[in-house]
Amino acid sequence: MIHQIPWVYVPVRSVLATWLQLIKTEIPELAKCSVLMKQRSKVEETLRAMQRAGAGSLQVISDFDMTLSRFAHNGRRVPTTHNILDNRLLINEDCTRKMRELLDTYYPIEIDASRTAEEKLPLMVEWWTRVHELLIQQRIRRELLAQAVQESGAMLREGYQHFFDRLAERQVPLLIFSAGVGDVLEEVIRQNRVFHPNVHVISNYMDFDCTGVLQAFKGRLIHTFNKHEGALSLAAGLRELRGRRSVLLLGDSLGDLTMADGVEEPRQLLTVGFLNDQVEERKESYVNAFDIVLIRDETMDVPNAVLNFITSPPDAA
Ligand code: TMP
Ligand code: MG
Repeated sequence: MIHQIPWVYVPVRSVLATWLQLIKTEIPELAKCSVLMKQRSKVEETLRAMQRAGAGSLQVISDFDMTLSRFAHNGRRVPTTHNILDNRLLINEDCTRKMRELLDTYYPIEIDASRTAEEKLPLMVEWWTRVHELLIQQRIRRELLAQAVQESGAMLREGYQHFFDRLAERQVPLLIFSAGVGDVLEEVIRQNRVFHPNVHVISNYMDFDCTGVLQAFKGRLIHTFNKHEGALSLAAGLRELRGRRSVLLLGDSLGDLTMADGVEEPRQLLTVGFLNDQVEERKESYVNAFDIVLIRDETMDVPNAVLNFITSPPDAA
């Protein structure tokens, strides 16, 4: 018996190697030097399983700011949904100054690799609460949001159209789970003509009074480090997502990894993390946490290639 083990082991290993090699040729985007994977073989196995399960079992859960939207363009930061509101149409100079001070104080904390999510959590609640209070004081008018988005320089990542269109074509639900401002987010994807019927948004929505003036934010506050609560209480209840246990998750924060917490087990989960900022400091934690890490990549090339692979039948891939 014992002398048979190497005989069996070698062919199995070489078959496995050939099988894994296939992904490399079928998804060349994964071989780019901006792509990091701690466990390449696990990624390949998950991709195979998701491809076998097909588009009918798939759902995509994505963060919005700095994940679907760009981090920077031509060396300048692209505005987040909160920062799109920084427009004289909506807020005054004093509010702009205060929001920027808050951003300068709290954003470095949000991305600080030396603090735990537990340490960051109360500070994120503080940041979001203070910003929302400032915005409410400004009596923002709903009818001006579309113009503010138009004037903002908001940009989705290169290749976004293929991403949204492919998901719509294949009737794969896309859940956008954002700690940004839902009304602004919806306007960005509407103006980019990709707010297809398969897109569902969970975010912080503005509550306007009957004259169209902002008076509060609706529901429970969502910030970067409490997305697991929304995943269990809101996403898990969405009928369109039920039974879809193949999940492609996209995010730019470690907190985004909890967005799939509401998906029933057993599930196939492939996580992709955009590492935009503080790359050297955060590389190790990202590679340990996400299956695939994209370093300073402003495109949707890798998510698109992964999606094409998963949603093509195995023999046609
Ligand atoms: P996301 O969940 O869609 O990524 O949105 C959250 C991002 O919004 C987070 O990374 C920080 C950013 N943000 C601002 O840019 N300005 C603000 O005032 C606040 C509260 C958050
Ligand atoms: Mg984000």
